[in-house]
Amino acid sequence: MPAFSATAPGKIILFGEHAVVYGEPALAVPVPTVQARAVVSPIIDGDSGDIQIEAPDISLSGAAADLNPDHPLRAAVNAVIGERDPGGVPACKINISSTIPSASGLGSGTAVSAAIIRAFSAFLGRRLTDEQVSQLTFEVEKIYHGTPSGIDNTVIAHHKPVYYLKGEPFSFLSILKPFSILIADSGIPGHTGEAVHHVRQKWINDPERYDQIFKSIGEISKNAMELIQTGSPAMLGSLMDENHSLLQSLEVSTPELDNLVNAARKAGALGAKLSGGGLGGIIIALIEEGEDQIAEEVTQAGAVHAMLSRVPSSQLPD
Ligand code: MEV
Repeated sequence: MPAFSATAPGKIILFGEHAVVYGEPALAVPVPTVQARAVVSPIIDGDSGDIQIEAPDISLSGAAADLNPDHPLRAAVNAVIGERDPGGVPACKINISSTIPSASGLGSGTAVSAAIIRAFSAFLGRRLTDEQVSQLTFEVEKIYHGTPSGIDNTVIAHHKPVYYLKGEPFSFLSILKPFSILIADSGIPGHTGEAVHHVRQKWINDPERYDQIFKSIGEISKNAMELIQTGSPAMLGSLMDENHSLLQSLEVSTPELDNLVNAARKAGALGAKLSGGGLGGIIIALIEEGEDQIAEEVTQAGAVHAMLSRVPSSQLPD
């Protein structure tokens, strides 16, 4: 039995995080320069049903069956096993590694799940389509944070830019003109589940106010899609700034994230915002020129890591 491996990219939400959980549109793109990888290899002469997990990045090594059933790595394995008899699965080792900083808003947990699901399923003789990987990853996402919108698993499993509206078929984004995004990591862990829960509490206490904020964010996403599809990405900067203000109103930004956003703008970015769940994690900034200077300034302002991600043009067939 051969070994099978799969990778899954990181992601950034360009516009619409949090509001997307409440039925507003959001835009996300993959970040292929960072990725999660899963390699599934047979354990020769092992007992069937023995699935070992090796994840040195998080110092985890042992049997999947010994992990808590809610543990995301075990959940990803179980999502693939599904209705099969787990005792009949050939003995194997799943090696997991990732260059995506964890708890940063770059989708590290989602990418790990997607890579495991794709590789483990292929090992068991079933190559999944991107959409099947996305659906199974979504099941694991629900364990991470209860009410995921589905955007993270969609952009990561399909590894293409998406326009996403919960409950509707998503569409791939057609990008007429490439643009560049600087990603700066605050180094403060931002846990999506907590951030989503935090926003939900606020919404429960004052649905009218928060629905209005979500709606405004949704309008921004729609305008952004228009600009991306018509080849005017430079105009996305002011929409990023507006989106960040609304995320501040949702109280998912922090002084550290605001500081990075301000530093990027001051250094010449066309606009900047936090990206992902917030309460830590990353900010993104739209860059036209001077990327080294802007990276330098955000690092001075406290970013532990800054990287440039180019969003290439992607024309869809008519
Ligand atoms: C996290 O990347 C994006 C959120 O909107 C959560 C979700 O959509 O499930 C914060």
